[in-house]
Amino acid sequence: MEHLFKTSDHDTNADSTSCRCIWVNGPVIVGAGPSGLAVAACLRQQGVPFLVLERAPCIASLWQNRTYDRLKLHLPKQFCQLPNMPFPQHFPEYPTRKQFIQYLESYAQIFEISPRFNESVVSAKYDETCGLWRVKACSSAGNGVEYICRWLVAATGENAECVVPEIDGLAGFGGQVKHACEYKSGRGFEGKRVLVVGCGNSGMEVSLDLCNHGVFPSMVVRSSVHVLPRELNGRSTFELACRMLKWLPLWLVDKILLIMAWIVFGSVEKYGLRRPSTGPLELKYKAGKTPVLDIGALAKIKAGGINVVPGIKKFSRHGVELVNGECLSLDAVILATGYRSNVPSWLHESDFFCKNGFPKTAQPNCWKGQSGLYAVGFSRKGLAGASMDATKVAQDIGEVWRKETRRSCKTTAALGRCISQFRR
Ligand SMILES: Cc1cc2nc3c(=O)[nH]c(=O)nc-3n(C[C@H](O)[C@H](O)[C@H](O)COP(=O)(O)OP(=O)(O)OC[C@H]3O[C@@H](n4cnc5c(N)ncnc54)[C@H](O)[C@@H]3O)c2cc1C
Ligand SMILES: NC(=O)c1ccc[n+]([C@@H]2O[C@H](COP(=O)([O-])OP(=O)(O)OC[C@H]3O[C@@H](n4cnc5c(N)ncnc54)[C@H](OP(=O)(O)O)[C@@H]3O)[C@@H](O)[C@H]2O)c1
Repeated sequence: MEHLFKTSDHDTNADSTSCRCIWVNGPVIVGAGPSGLAVAACLRQQGVPFLVLERAPCIASLWQNRTYDRLKLHLPKQFCQLPNMPFPQHFPEYPTRKQFIQYLESYAQIFEISPRFNESVVSAKYDETCGLWRVKACSSAGNGVEYICRWLVAATGENAECVVPEIDGLAGFGGQVKHACEYKSGRGFEGKRVLVVGCGNSGMEVSLDLCNHGVFPSMVVRSSVHVLPRELNGRSTFELACRMLKWLPLWLVDKILLIMAWIVFGSVEKYGLRRPSTGPLELKYKAGKTPVLDIGALAKIKAGGINVVPGIKKFSRHGVELVNGECLSLDAVILATGYRSNVPSWLHESDFFCKNGFPKTAQPNCWKGQSGLYAVGFSRKGLAGASMDATKVAQDIGEVWRKETRRSCKTTAALGRCISQFRR
């Protein structure tokens, strides 16, 4: 497959820490998660060669290595499938983590996507002088490669790095501290006093899992949270919201969702779960804060199986002091404190991406930047949003590619010139 994208490979320096320089005949895609795979598959259908760079040793590393055992997709499968390949019919409405990984493995195989694994992109810069992107990647062995390409697709995800907040005294806490991305299951926590920090979908599901393993966790809710039932009358809440949004304004859909949540749950404020003043969908679109789709944590909270506590004042060696003055003795802390994009750490560009690693423009215009830069999977619309981005990106590149390949002789000659230009 490699000859499809690699037309030349030059050592530009003799020592082992230096960069090799490789021309990529087609786009470089950074990240082999669902977004990277989706855009690669769409490019394959457009007949455009590509190169996928992935820092991990496998595809979909978030799903394979940084998620817990009990995880299931929280949206029905038709909203999570990638372009041009539905989930197998025998998969349940909400596929498990393992099924999703299996689906992604088959997807990569069917669309002949073979990423270069263990290659972490450390820098990508547009070279104005020649109108090409220079993408530097570092292998786990410490070797560097500079890829040179016409198009660059950022597909490193909204959840590339864990957020580990600085909390007073946490470094001196004597028990176990884990981020939710390292949490696999409640096995091993039996009989322990565990604090889960954060009440997003991760915090709620980790607390539920601990509870199911006989642990009585405390869960920190420092501000407010929207909890919605995953289903209403047997229909996915997400699906209902999507249908309503076709006819009704967002504010009205938010009001309807909140009324329905109230009918199902009653008031949740008395359990320490204050609702934000902004509606759940508006908050998601404006601030990227995902509502919790409840799969059982709320019932455990109501039954007293999960102890909701307010914000943290400071940790001590053996426990935590909360903002209300209450002190808890602890054996372990799980930080379900979220994730962030890592784009600013490697992409040297400030027109399209903000400092927070998300595109400056909202959907539907968050997939195309300047000078051949594209983004897939940053629309805050989950897997469905990633699929939409991937289709548009591949069509856009495909159109240019087809025009350019008609002039293929010229391109090959230009290629030779480019490569000699990059020799150092
Ligand atoms: C616990 C959890 C559950 C979720 N459940 C759902 C769900 O049910 N439905 C839904 O729609 N969304 C869900 N999400 C959101 C999730 O982000 C998407 O489902 C999906 O993983 C996004 O795909 P992605 O390819 O954009 O990002 P990722 O899956 O994060 O993939 C990005 C890839 O880029 C690689 N990478 C990062 N930086 C570099 C670099 N510098 N160089 C090379 N490679 C790099 C990473 O190793 C990774 O493999 C969930 C998220 C989490 C954390
Ligand atoms: N089943 C599923 O499909 C599933 C499961 C898990 C996650 N996900 C997805 O994965 C993404 C990330 O979810 P997430 O739950 O990991 O992250 P998240 O939604 O960003 O939630 C982070 C939580 O941590 C809290 N927090 C952060 N710093 C804190 C501090 N110093 N003290 C106390 N609390 C603190 C936040 O509180 P504030 O709100 O006050 O900032 C928030 O409650 C979301 O898109 C989510 O939908 C999906």
